[in-house]
Amino acid sequence: MKLLLENKETVADGVVLLTLRHPDGDALPAWTPGAHVDLVLTDGLVRQYSLCGAPDSTTWQVAVLREPDGRGGSQHVHDVLAAGGLIEVTGPRNHFELVEAKRYLFIAGGIGITPILPMIAQADRTGHDWRLVYGGRTRSSMAFRDELERLGHVEIRPQDEYGLLDLETLLGEPEEGTAVYCCGPEPLLAAVEQQCAAWPKGTLHVERFAPKADAARGPRHEFEVELAQSGTVLRVPPDQSVLAVVEQAGVAVLSSCQEGTCGTCETIVLDGEPDHRDSVLTAEEQECGDAMMICVSRSRSPRLVLDL
Ligand SMILES: Cc1cc2nc3c(=O)[nH]c(=O)nc-3n(C[C@H](O)[C@H](O)[C@H](O)COP(=O)(O)OP(=O)(O)OC[C@H]3O[C@@H](n4cnc5c(N)ncnc54)[C@H](O)[C@@H]3O)c2cc1C
Ligand code: FES
Repeated sequence: MKLLLENKETVADGVVLLTLRHPDGDALPAWTPGAHVDLVLTDGLVRQYSLCGAPDSTTWQVAVLREPDGRGGSQHVHDVLAAGGLIEVTGPRNHFELVEAKRYLFIAGGIGITPILPMIAQADRTGHDWRLVYGGRTRSSMAFRDELERLGHVEIRPQDEYGLLDLETLLGEPEEGTAVYCCGPEPLLAAVEQQCAAWPKGTLHVERFAPKADAARGPRHEFEVELAQSGTVLRVPPDQSVLAVVEQAGVAVLSSCQEGTCGTCETIVLDGEPDHRDSVLTAEEQECGDAMMICVSRSRSPRLVLDL
């Protein structure tokens, strides 16, 4: 779907907020807090951005951090996209749903605040007990600070003023009934995961904007995939992904990041044991083994049967 970039404004150091609308004023598809959309920036350059505005709005908003060392997606958003232009957008999709809980602890680092914003709005609207701890490099690099502070229950903790977030105090004692939501840079996510190891299973919900360190590593054996819808059996050599092999066989599968972070290529596994190497599924979802990200994940069994 092509959307009109209605407005583009700088909302923090290195962060622009894009407001998108249907060019004919049509309603946009519904979404829930935690959802993201794909911006098709140029041919082959597709990037995911969390929806950070209000879910009942006729506009979509995404905030994009410039990644000077990246592969060009965020730089394209910052340097090329201009208000008044049209952008191809797909989605929304959500791998970071807000579950029902007695209370919520939100932990955001830097641009990781984006999916948390609509979650906070919902928790606040529904009268839930919630608290946000928001870290960042400096105060001026932290988007949406003022509007968050107005809500209360918010601790703004720029690193140059407070140092790293004190996760030990924050997460030291498991709290029954609290759902913990975290989004931010990998070191923060890894530290929160470590601290939450003693909490009840299913307490922690994380979203990664980049692949988990070493997630895609591990031995690469050859195996077979059977495409259940046609009965076709394909060989996946050690140097190719399931996605690449399936596409070469002429079967169209939606994909985007190709590195196991966006969830676009999620495929149902009907038989066999996947070797999960993605950064999207939770440990419980991976253990369950009924779905996999075929852009990076492989197989522990000689054959996987996929719902393709
Ligand atoms: C579900 C989801 C939601 C997202 N929401 C937002 C959002 O709301 N706002 C936002 O700004 N971004 C968001 N992102 C990240 C975004 O999609 C882009 O990755 C980001 O804009 C950078 O794109 P890029 O092409 O500039 O850099 P990329 O090349 O994608 O690089 C991003 C960062 O990762 C590092 N990197 C590059 N390749 C690798 C690799 N193979 N392994 C490890 N690290 C690598 C780079 O050094 C850089 O720091 C989201 C990502 C996902 C998956
Ligand atoms: S294409 Fe993004 S997870 Fe596979």
